[in-house]
Amino acid sequence: MSETAQLKIGDKTYDLPVIEGTEGEKAIDISKLRDQSGYVTLDIGYKNTGATKSAITFLDGEVGILKYRGYPIEQLAEKSTFIEVAYLLIYGKLPTAEQLQAFEFEISHHTLVHEDMKKFFDGFPSGSHPMGQLSSLIGALAAFNPASLKQGLSAGEINIEIIKLIAKMSTIVSWIYKKSLGHPVIYPRNKYDYVTNFMHMTFGQRTEDVEIDPVVVSAMNKLLILHADHEQNCSTSTVRIVGSSDANLYASISAGISALWGPLHGGANQAVVEMLQKIKEDGGDVDKWVAKAKDKNDPFRLMGFGHRVYKNFDPRAKIIKKACDDILEKLGINDETLEIAKKLEEVALSDPYFVERKLYPNVDFYSGIIYTALGFPTEMFTVLFALGRLPGWIAQWKEMKANKEPIGRPRQIYVGETDKNYTDIKDRK
Ligand code: CMC
Repeated sequence: MSETAQLKIGDKTYDLPVIEGTEGEKAIDISKLRDQSGYVTLDIGYKNTGATKSAITFLDGEVGILKYRGYPIEQLAEKSTFIEVAYLLIYGKLPTAEQLQAFEFEISHHTLVHEDMKKFFDGFPSGSHPMGQLSSLIGALAAFNPASLKQGLSAGEINIEIIKLIAKMSTIVSWIYKKSLGHPVIYPRNKYDYVTNFMHMTFGQRTEDVEIDPVVVSAMNKLLILHADHEQNCSTSTVRIVGSSDANLYASISAGISALWGPLHGGANQAVVEMLQKIKEDGGDVDKWVAKAKDKNDPFRLMGFGHRVYKNFDPRAKIIKKACDDILEKLGINDETLEIAKKLEEVALSDPYFVERKLYPNVDFYSGIIYTALGFPTEMFTVLFALGRLPGWIAQWKEMKANKEPIGRPRQIYVGETDKNYTDIKDRK
């Protein structure tokens, strides 16, 4: 007989089914509890609430494990490419050579973006944040693809939208960068692989072919792979919950992009580099900034430190730290902020405040230093996180649809005023 949990409230006992995942994780299924007892559960910030059953990504934050579809992140980061990982996440298995070729072919033939989309850039004020532009432009793709709005799309029709979105996202991201410089946009070239094409559109010129260094392409592939999925989190759960209302793919991803923007989530990569620069300009006194982070009367937090689920180390941070050393050495760059980051890590990791709270560097701590070395301005970092996270969001949206999950609709405990009578405006104080 399968395990059950018992909940005793007053003199009544309720049997609740226990669900076990394939990696041995256990959960108490409370979905019928309210019908049985009238009680709801309360878990602000969903710190201990499973919102779905998912077969995409597994992570064990106590041990520091991250796997996509069963494959360890370390192997994928070392051996795979971003597009192969995208296939793995979205379709559930590693592609054969023919499947990968067909996937790449399809994507490279949908990279053009409707010319009218360029008019949006005339409306954005100069200097407007790239994440605001990205969420607007991805949402606007729905308007340019009305077929995606039809209810009850077939699997084949959904797949076309998925391919289009992956293809156009890289073009849109590079256009945002080019437009921020006031430069003309660069059009995609089908002959390049996804990442080379993206770098070509971002750093290329209209007049001549720019050589894209394979070292740079490899570093970019690694970064995108490491960001490709991270099971349930603020942006991914947003994508699933928006999609659960039957909102189209573009609207759901646009909502995910907005959720990612915050500095406590994807926006941390920009915040980290800004923090490191501030420490540098302030004289590089790392101890002073660690003390500020510990001071409960000071709102400053060590950006790029801490994680809701990783309580040992973030496996992505380990890979990125090494990649950061490698790329800077290969490109012959001596970055002072990297030295500050390493000192900061050393001081924080030997400080009881951080040790007791299990606060370790996360994925964002070193990624910004690599993005800077590759030539991206700070404000583009979170957009690059979004480019990497796109296949994960798509896979999660697709899985939510395939599982026919009901519309997301949490409960609450009301703690406001009760039974007030309307008073005329002249009688109010
Ligand atoms: N600097 C100083 N203190 C911290 C930090 C930090 N970066 N992170 C957590 N703490 C303290 C926090 O003040 C609290 O202390 P106390 O128990 O005395 O009240 C304790 O550690 C637990 O923190 P929490 O805020 O309750 O933890 P959380 O799980 O709600 O938040 C977090 C996780 C990532 C939002 C948080 O660690 C943080 O704000 N980190 C900095 C922002 C950052 O780097 N975010 C990127 C996360 S990785 C990318 C992604 O996937 O989103």
